Amino acid sequence: MEQDRRVALVTGGARGIGRAVAARLAADGWRVVVADREGAEDVPGRLVEADVADEAAVGRLVEGIAQAEGRLDALVCNAGFMIRKPIRELSLGEWNAVLGTNLTSAFLLARAAETMLRPARGAIVTIASTRAHQSEANTESYSASKGGLMALTHALAISLGPEVRVNCVSPGWIDTKGEALRPEDHAQHPAGRVGRPEDVAALVAWLVGPESGFVTGAEFLSDGGMTRKMIYAE
Ligand SMILES: NC(=O)c1ccc[n+]([C@@H]2O[C@H](COP(=O)([O-])OP(=O)(O)OC[C@H]3O[C@@H](n4cnc5c(N)ncnc54)[C@H](O)[C@@H]3O)[C@@H](O)[C@H]2O)c1
Repeated sequence: MEQDRRVALVTGGARGIGRAVAARLAADGWRVVVADREGAEDVPGRLVEADVADEAAVGRLVEGIAQAEGRLDALVCNAGFMIRKPIRELSLGEWNAVLGTNLTSAFLLARAAETMLRPARGAIVTIASTRAHQSEANTESYSASKGGLMALTHALAISLGPEVRVNCVSPGWIDTKGEALRPEDHAQHPAGRVGRPEDVAALVAWLVGPESGFVTGAEFLSDGGMTRKMIYAE
């Protein structure tokens, strides 16, 4: 029966990692709702155009799932973006925009989805970044948002358990645009290659599935080992 099929909401699922997550979950038999502030062709799921940093839009999005799908079993908070600017040039508006999409949206979505996720004994996965742990220059708003998202993950795991498990995936370098990658780009990763959106999608699929039932409040790095590599200048 259609109503028995699990339902997943993937934010930022029109492109990149979110699209791969949506495609993987759809292939695994989930009904998928993709929320994105941009439209896109051939989205692997029901596309809802919504800005997930907007409280009212998140309310409409989750209410729409209650009406259309009738249940919610997994929430994947993937929407995110980066502004690279020297801090002296970064406006408060830009700071708030990055925090709004990358961090506040997960609060808004978890709050709105709790009443459907608890009876479903569902799962939340947040997509943070290895930049929650390490930085390049001029990435303050992004790093802060991802560090906050990682901490929000364990806070939610404690508050929403035991019914809802909440985990975080922190990707490293994932090639979402099919860039021309050099041999040294791959070689600098202990795993021998740059990451693919499907690498992240496979981890998310496990985290929202039944085989990760003893895992909550955790962070998983999908970075080809880059954050474990010690570097000294030659
Ligand atoms: N690609 C990487 O190397 C990498 C590494 C670490 C973390 N991440 C994280 O993974 C996630 C996905 O990254 P990506 O590389 O696939 O990005 P992307 O830019 O290719 O796709 C992001 C999608 O999110 C949507 N989006 C952005 N803000 C939104 C909002 N407020 N409301 C609704 N939709 C919104 C965009 O329209 C887009 O479709 C992000 O959270 C990003 O920070 C990516």
